[in-house]
Amino acid sequence: MALVRMQDMLRHAYENGYAVGAFDVVSLDMIQGIITAAERCRAPVIIGISEPHFEHVDMGLLAPAVEAAAARAEVPVAIHFDHGSGLESAVEGIRLGCNGVMVDCSHLELKENIDITKAVVAMAHECGVPVEAELGYVPDSGDEMVYTTVEEARGFVRLTGVDFLAVSIGTVHGRLGGKPKLDYTRLRHINEALGIPLVLHGGSGLSDDQFHRLITNGIAKINYFTALTDSAARLMRDNARDKTGGYLDLFDGVSALLEQEAERLMRVWGGAGRAAEVLERCAPWRPVDHLITFQPPEMDAEELEFITRRGRRLLGAIPGVREVLLSEPVQSGTRRRCAWTLRLASEAVIPQLEQNPDYQGLRKRYWRESDSASVSNYRRSA
Ligand code: 13P
Repeated sequence: MALVRMQDMLRHAYENGYAVGAFDVVSLDMIQGIITAAERCRAPVIIGISEPHFEHVDMGLLAPAVEAAAARAEVPVAIHFDHGSGLESAVEGIRLGCNGVMVDCSHLELKENIDITKAVVAMAHECGVPVEAELGYVPDSGDEMVYTTVEEARGFVRLTGVDFLAVSIGTVHGRLGGKPKLDYTRLRHINEALGIPLVLHGGSGLSDDQFHRLITNGIAKINYFTALTDSAARLMRDNARDKTGGYLDLFDGVSALLEQEAERLMRVWGGAGRAAEVLERCAPWRPVDHLITFQPPEMDAEELEFITRRGRRLLGAIPGVREVLLSEPVQSGTRRRCAWTLRLASEAVIPQLEQNPDYQGLRKRYWRESDSASVSNYRRSA
């Protein structure tokens, strides 16, 4: 299992003067290409699931593939929820398997950005998940840029408790009109004031030299999407010119191309060759299963169906609970026995789960400690 805690991974990058690539994925080709690239050059890598992409891709289907690829990868991997719009979506990101979340309220008034980010930090930290937020505004091409200021950044980090900060120092999301002018002095001052890993959004279109100077001044995570997917789209257009080709022929070479480009970037950003030391320095990230078996009070099938539905709804809504598996009650003697499994994002979720009023209510009512119930059973996936 190569999934590791993202806070450990980025701390290592920050302290050792390199940046980890964070690539949002929208397809299996991308997952495969990027993980293989990281394996080829032995680099840590972050795979991103981005909320704005939810309208194009069913992330409920793609996220398990990301998790499976991370689990079998030979290099350290973290899974990040990119550009989350608020508390609810950050909870959903953790439910999808992300072990780092970004809350992006940079387009809102500062006070609102602080309040929402603070709420996300409180929730995510209770799940063991670090939080990235954005201050200033890294625009989509065409929008107006708002630079991050040192003073605001200092106050923002102190008030919110974020683990990483995305800064606006001259980059834009998407395709660039010309060569961007980056404000390295501003970045250096922000870095000196904060001392936490800084994040660069809008990595597409920058030169190797620009990347090096950004990393020297505190950038430890680089988000990169447009240029990578544009090159894949160009190849697919070329493939489509061969009118005899079928659906699969359109994708011919796409994964290899993504792999090549992602590997080149990982080498430029300095992560190549770091996998072994990162694995050694990072705690593994493992979900925890909470097993509950109990004998419900005497009830008919309809009542049992009701508590099953209720249990699924209430328990599934608790932050950090990723899945509620309720197995069909089996006949045991004359009474039915229930077995419920809660899949938790991490061990950190346990205390807040046990204090949750809905959890406590169900526990008191249906599986209060007795000789027929077993509840304090937590197992880390091996
Ligand atoms: P680009 O698409 O400009 O590379 O930016 C990606 C990004 O910042 C995703 O969060």
